[in-house]
Amino acid sequence: MCGIVGYVGRTSGRADAGHGALDVVLEGLRRLEYRGYDSAGVAVVADGEIFSRKKSGKLSNLLAELEARPLPASLTGIGHTRWATHGGPTDQNAHPHLSDGGKLAVIHNGIIENFAELKQELLAKGVVFESETDTEVAAALLGDIFRNKLNGDVSDGGLTTAMQLACQRLEGAFTLLAVHADQPDVVVAARRNSPLVVGLGEGENFLGSDVSGFIDYTRRAVELGQDQIVTITADTVEITDFYGAPAEGKEYHVDWDPASAEKGGFASFMEKEIHDQPDAVAQTLLGRSDLNGKLTLDELRIDPALLKKVDKIIVLACGTAAYAGMVAKYAIENWCRIPTEVELAHEFRYRDPIVGPNTLVVSISQSGETMDTLMAVRYAREQGAITVSICNTNGSTIPRESDAVLYTHAGPEIAVASTKAFLAQITAAYLLGLYLAQLRGNIFSGQIKDVLADLGKIPAKIQKILDNAGELRDLARSMKDEKSVLFLGRHVGYPVALEGALKLKEIAYLHAEGFAAGELKHGPIALIEEGQPVFVVVPSPRGRDSLHSKVVSNIQEIRARGARTLVIAEEGDEAVRDYAEHVFYVPETPVLLMPLLTTVPLQIFACELAAAKGFDVDQPRNLAKSVTVE
Ligand code: M6R
Repeated sequence: MCGIVGYVGRTSGRADAGHGALDVVLEGLRRLEYRGYDSAGVAVVADGEIFSRKKSGKLSNLLAELEARPLPASLTGIGHTRWATHGGPTDQNAHPHLSDGGKLAVIHNGIIENFAELKQELLAKGVVFESETDTEVAAALLGDIFRNKLNGDVSDGGLTTAMQLACQRLEGAFTLLAVHADQPDVVVAARRNSPLVVGLGEGENFLGSDVSGFIDYTRRAVELGQDQIVTITADTVEITDFYGAPAEGKEYHVDWDPASAEKGGFASFMEKEIHDQPDAVAQTLLGRSDLNGKLTLDELRIDPALLKKVDKIIVLACGTAAYAGMVAKYAIENWCRIPTEVELAHEFRYRDPIVGPNTLVVSISQSGETMDTLMAVRYAREQGAITVSICNTNGSTIPRESDAVLYTHAGPEIAVASTKAFLAQITAAYLLGLYLAQLRGNIFSGQIKDVLADLGKIPAKIQKILDNAGELRDLARSMKDEKSVLFLGRHVGYPVALEGALKLKEIAYLHAEGFAAGELKHGPIALIEEGQPVFVVVPSPRGRDSLHSKVVSNIQEIRARGARTLVIAEEGDEAVRDYAEHVFYVPETPVLLMPLLTTVPLQIFACELAAAKGFDVDQPRNLAKSVTVE
């Protein structure tokens, strides 16, 4: 949720080249702003003091504040963009929070669950609080330990030791970063169930909630484990657990380049990411099969004998990723004949699910940090399930805590509304399904080869949709004053309808609902009145039995009641023309792969309509890119 950056340099390093801590931290915040944007703040250490600025609203408000009230040059700094949990998005609740008489500054991502109890304890000691946040309680606790328990003694680790002691008392999920005026060349950080990555530089080191926080400066990153504390100086990185025992991080190379996280000439990241989709699918397919059309998912590194025994698959995810899971279910059951359930991760562990050693739990997450999904995966592992993560973010927590990972290679997704990650997730889930089918001998190798060949044609087909989206854009602009849009689909078109509705809700703030077309007559059809726009995702007429004709009947039913029908259909499906006000054709493709195409017009529609309404497409209100609280 919140974005976090930390930096320490030395005078012979980047600071000499004109990059002080503030420049580095602000650049990191600019890249991380997508994580949270209801306030932003920075703190630097200079001349034996902490200097801090913070402002509610977007990062631009903080930049204006810094222009009005500049900070002194510094080599050590921290910065934060907030997604409010405890306390509204005000200047006062913005991070950093100070303690120890203004000498200690703390930023935080997560939720400190026992903050109320700790606050009472600190109030009794005379601590005065200025905000409503749980973060200020953590800052006060840390300051109290540093000053009263350690007597502010920096000779023996000082801030690091204080952080260890404080973390022993904190419950919940948190990443904390702290700087202290008495230790001007150190940033100390702690992580429990919340993301934090270290960036290794030359004569400088970095911290970020993800690698975007320092991607402009280094590609060398270090993954931290749970319940670890890291202390960075310009030349050192030391990791311990919460009790001071030395710990190791795992270094990896970041293969995202900064340019791929820029808008590349598009008006928004979302628009750019929609256009990245041919590449996202192609990259996700790359190198995962051999010339004979055999899948080679060696990266899974799970004993094939175990996978052969799998008798049930549970897909766990949230939001768009869950819709990718719903799409995958149709393909996996079809190819592998293994019963597959898809469950919202936040519901999973509260219903006493039936999970055993022959259950394969597949989590899907773009960020790899979604707390609901992480907790569900942990629970599944505890129950003995085999866990595979489909994830877009190298080094993130969910893949690290799973038995195996299949990365989607969609590149960084910055816009809060997920687009290219969705198509890459479906692609990766298909590869997993085909791999299981191959392993278990469920389908002939020739069929696998054919599906792979069809998947290989998808990027060019997406490109064709993107190239012909003019009419759709015009339609979206003309519909900017609509109050409600409905979406219908059947079979794999059903999750596509749900995804189309979600996109519109989250970025255009428009009432939108997706329904299974067959469900309409059981209630939702009452919503249809004269002029109600309804998108209908029509299955291929070449598909299974009566699926196409059933959906055409559904279109007729709503049309008869005045609906304005906007149809997504396959090229060559002339039959739907008679029943639709607008038809958007997508290229022919096998039925199970259709979502990789039919989703694209709905993404474009939502993006264009939100832009026409004048909304910030990339940073919709109340949302954050990765939801790291439960
Ligand atoms: O990072 P994840 O894929 O785990 O995120 C899951 C959802 O929070 C995410 O897909 C969300 O629904 C998107 N904002 C939808 O566009």
